[in-house]
Amino acid sequence: MNDPVLDAIRRRRVTRSMTDEPVAREQIETILEAARWAPTAGNRHLQRFVATTDPATLRVLRMVSPGMIPRPAAAAVVVCVDRELVARYGFPTTAPGPWIDVGTATATILLAAQAVGLGAGPVSSFSRAAVAVVLDLPGSWSPELIICLGHPAADQPRPMQRPRALGWRDLTRWVPDDDPGPAADAR
Ligand SMILES: Cc1cc2nc3c(=O)[nH]c(=O)nc-3n(C[C@H](O)[C@H](O)[C@H](O)COP(=O)(O)O)c2cc1C
Repeated sequence: MNDPVLDAIRRRRVTRSMTDEPVAREQIETILEAARWAPTAGNRHLQRFVATTDPATLRVLRMVSPGMIPRPAAAAVVVCVDRELVARYGFPTTAPGPWIDVGTATATILLAAQAVGLGAGPVSSFSRAAVAVVLDLPGSWSPELIICLGHPAADQPRPMQRPRALGWRDLTRWVPDDDPGPAADAR
């Protein structure tokens, strides 16, 4: 099916090699504006975003983030969960909603970055305590994911694994199991 959204979803790839070109503030603002439209549990908007283009901050962030392979990031958006808001709205501490919100925001940010011509790479491997200090986060904000942003370099490292080795059928079970199978699709 030909559709610009589906096409953008299929084209999006993590960017791990970026140029030194700075990222314009307006590009980041467009991305943040898109992020606020991501669906959230109970429509409560429990995530908070921290954005930076400051080279010194980005350097220190990288020092405390072993997973920060995308480089050199010209900007980063850190997706946080405001635990105080989570409690205030009565979410049990084990409720998955606030953390699922991190995922919906992240997916939206990755696609928005692509739409404004930037590459983006999510990073989950970092010291939460150190990132909270580096960014001087309010006490109730817990950093959950760093999204590195920058202009994609011409050459990208090979993907960590074979891209999309699994088809949707490998990932899906129909109930009841009446999937006619790929042979029927091809007819
Ligand atoms: C929750 C999450 C955490 C991730 N953490 C890292 C990370 O720490 N470092 C990194 O280089 N990539 C990280 N990635 C990127 C994945 O490795 C990447 O999406 C995957 O290899 C598929 O590549 P593609 O998005 O280009 O198809 C993360 C992705 C997600 C969704």
